[in-house]
Amino acid sequence: MKGLILQNAYYHTPSTDYQGERLAAELNKLGVYCDIKNNDFFGAKIEGGNLKNAAAGYDFCIYLDKDKYLSYALEKCGVRLFNRHEAIQLCDDKALTFLYLAGKGIPMPKTLPGLLCYDPSAEILKDTCEVLEKELGFPMVAKQCYGSLGKFVYKIDNRAELQKKCGELKCTPHLFQKFIAESAGRDIRVIVIGGKAVAAMERTSQTDFRSNIELGGKGTPKEIDEKLKTLCEKSANLLGLDYCGIDILYGKEGYLLCEVNSNAFFGGMERVTGINVARLYAEHIIANAKRL
Ligand SMILES: Nc1ncnc2c1ncn2[C@@H]1O[C@H](COP(=O)(O)OP(=O)(O)OP(=O)(O)O)[C@@H](O)[C@H]1O
Ligand SMILES: [Mg+2]
Repeated sequence: MKGLILQNAYYHTPSTDYQGERLAAELNKLGVYCDIKNNDFFGAKIEGGNLKNAAAGYDFCIYLDKDKYLSYALEKCGVRLFNRHEAIQLCDDKALTFLYLAGKGIPMPKTLPGLLCYDPSAEILKDTCEVLEKELGFPMVAKQCYGSLGKFVYKIDNRAELQKKCGELKCTPHLFQKFIAESAGRDIRVIVIGGKAVAAMERTSQTDFRSNIELGGKGTPKEIDEKLKTLCEKSANLLGLDYCGIDILYGKEGYLLCEVNSNAFFGGMERVTGINVARLYAEHIIANAKRL
């Protein structure tokens, strides 16, 4: 068996490179060789009205990117992707994740998809802000639909800030959400592989309501209790994910789903918990590579 690990050509950090290298090393120990490539070899092209697959010869592809065109094309050519194209798309867009999971028994904060605007010069209407304030109160949270590492998640404390943020985000996909005060500065990150919650840590921050490690949050191992396990495994299975990192908030009445990351970094989790996440993912990949 031979695998392809695909990375984004434009985005390389120690964390992104670590993902590919660790997975390749663990797969190698299990007898599976992988090539690590940037996605700029144009893995699929349309020629003569047909798709041509430049990734032929691989039994699977670990897709450490979110580019929907290439994932769609590779899957259409019969390549088994980890994660699958549809699962990556559902998770990449936070509003889409919440909308997809709504009505399926997953507790989540009250969420209003933001209005899209196509005119950068358009004024934000007073009525729009009034509705948001009435629905969510202050503070509330705004998030860009595409974002990670906590970078595009904002707390809004009053009407003036809301008006300003609506203006800044109007031409970018975004959502508004109830601020879960009980969870300010703390959340739980759970890794789910092949439908099983395998590792978890609590992340706490003394300086920010966002507990992302990249923003100064500290991780400690967290026991996976029955409710946490059920919520995370159910979410991952509904979204069709082979692998993910799920963020969970502490709500007044129990756990709430915050976010599902299809490309979650596992370096921090491995350091905090001592669990070999790359090994578990490698085992899952080998067992499922032939199942399209
Ligand atoms: N509704 C909310 N109420 C309170 N805190 C929140 C809320 N939503 C998010 N947070 C905090 O902000 C952090 C970042 O939010 P979220 O996970 O949605 O964004 P992210 O930038 O995608 O992070 P990641 O790096 O995990 O992809 C969360 O881990 C949590 O600590
Ligand atoms: Mg997150």
